[in-house]
Amino acid sequence: MGVELIIARYAHLLVVSLIFIRSCEGGLTSSYVRKNGLSSDMPLDSDVFRLPPGYNAPQQVHITQGDREGRGVIVSWITPDEEGSTSVLYWAENSQIKKTEWGSVVRYKYYNYSSGYIHHCTINNLEYDTKYYYVVGSGNVAREFWFVTPPQPGPDVPYTFGLIGDLGQTFDSNRTVTHYELNPVKGQAILYVGDLSYADSYPLHDNTRWDTWGRFVERNVAYQPWIWTAGNHEIDFVPEIGETIPFKPFMHRFLTPYKASKSTSPLWYSIKRASAYIIVLSSYSAYGKYTPQYKWFTNELPKVNRTETPWLIVLMHSPMYSSYIHHYMEGETMRVMYEEWLVQYKVDVVFAGHVHAYERSERISNIEYNVVNGLCTPINDESAPVYITIGDGGNQEGLVTDMTQPQPRYSAYREASFGHGIFDIKNRTHAYFGWHRNQDGFAVEGDSLWFLNRYWKTKEEKYSV
Ligand SMILES: *[C@@H]1O[C@H](CO)[C@@H](O)[C@H](O)[C@H]1NC(C)=O
Ligand SMILES: *[C@@H]1O[C@H](CO)[C@@H](O)[C@H](O)[C@H]1NC(C)=O
Ligand SMILES: *[C@@H]1O[C@H](CO)[C@@H](O)[C@H](O)[C@H]1NC(C)=O
Ligand SMILES: *[C@@H]1O[C@H](CO)[C@@H](O)[C@H](O)[C@H]1NC(C)=O
Ligand SMILES: [Fe+2]
Repeated sequence: MGVELIIARYAHLLVVSLIFIRSCEGGLTSSYVRKNGLSSDMPLDSDVFRLPPGYNAPQQVHITQGDREGRGVIVSWITPDEEGSTSVLYWAENSQIKKTEWGSVVRYKYYNYSSGYIHHCTINNLEYDTKYYYVVGSGNVAREFWFVTPPQPGPDVPYTFGLIGDLGQTFDSNRTVTHYELNPVKGQAILYVGDLSYADSYPLHDNTRWDTWGRFVERNVAYQPWIWTAGNHEIDFVPEIGETIPFKPFMHRFLTPYKASKSTSPLWYSIKRASAYIIVLSSYSAYGKYTPQYKWFTNELPKVNRTETPWLIVLMHSPMYSSYIHHYMEGETMRVMYEEWLVQYKVDVVFAGHVHAYERSERISNIEYNVVNGLCTPINDESAPVYITIGDGGNQEGLVTDMTQPQPRYSAYREASFGHGIFDIKNRTHAYFGWHRNQDGFAVEGDSLWFLNRYWKTKEEKYSV
């Protein structure tokens, strides 16, 4: 291995400095700079892409929440050679009774690619807060995994979410997943803010890169649910090669429990999980007034019972507030449509991806502007959510480093590093957020914040448990 190669391999560890430049407005722009902004995809023969042994062995096993309350799980997997058994065998830890649930198989074609046999099986009516083992495939290619169901929704139920976005399948992507896995604060489910495989970056949107991504993330997503948000890299709309159905690969491979929240599209939906109510929006579906997504979203917010689920979390791909130059203002039209709803219903936090960096906002809103009154500067607003951009999973497009200057007042902290987040709910009033950059030790936080619940902070006098 040449010297250059060694330097190239370890350049990510050469941190230049750790000084913070305080902008005149008060937010922090970190000057933590690393040399490799761009990262390359892991080669096809990498360990993370290895096929499970045996003819037609199930691969790309992944789970997500399968119902509204957390007692359902959707188990998905792909068999490459022929249709496999659609059944999932499962049993609770400490139980002798094994049950079987049956699913279904889909396939799709994309230009000249034909998918494997994509199996989906929804298991319902599980016990809360219970470890289950499950088996997919049969005979000598049966594979066993496990998951833990969340506790029943309730006001003071602690729960820990991981946050990952724009992951891709580079060496940095692998570092992000590894750091999440080895973080001593154990995440129990991932809120995934969109842009999964980046298969569309390959010629003809080479869908074999969806398969490699599925094998790469299996080591985590087979054991804990990832809650999916669709990003622009899921659109896969290429009329020039006859591919005119947006989100085709994503929607065949990854299901969401959208019907349980009366949504009409898998791309926007909501779930309850422990003490959180999570609303997932689609930045790349119509969201203007009268559209299905608008209608659903505005009906959804009044339904949230903050006693049952105090923490109201919204996920979307394109951030409403980002002070990076790349993708600047792409989320603006959705902000104009939806921000007043987020403030009125006291959403605690909005997580987004898309911008390949990290940023956290102050609690601000910009909802007074009416085109003629000139009130177009975000102002401090105690009812507003914190906006967190966490599109720093590590995909092949690399980091974005160009920021608008000076740092706007609404931006509390920004840094162009790869990493992941942890949102750790303690009780109805307190949650702790930490952001972990990949260059640091597993427990180190690059940025952190105590969240005081927006609904309960004003009701503390009524609060007695
Ligand atoms: C990915 O990370 C895992 C866990 O740290 C490691 O075992 C594996 O070798 C890595 N693979 C590549 C291609 O970096
Ligand atoms: C699809 O077409 C591309 C370009 O012609 C070619 O490189 C690739 O091998 C083809 N793949 C299959 C599965 O036929
Ligand atoms: C809200 O949830 C709490 C706790 O589950 C329940 O006691 C209460 O009846 C619910 N309120 C409404 C309006 O449904
Ligand atoms: C909620 O959690 C916070 C942080 O752990 C703690 O300081 C506070 O006392 C807790 N509230 C109650 C009522 O237990
Ligand atoms: Fe994106």
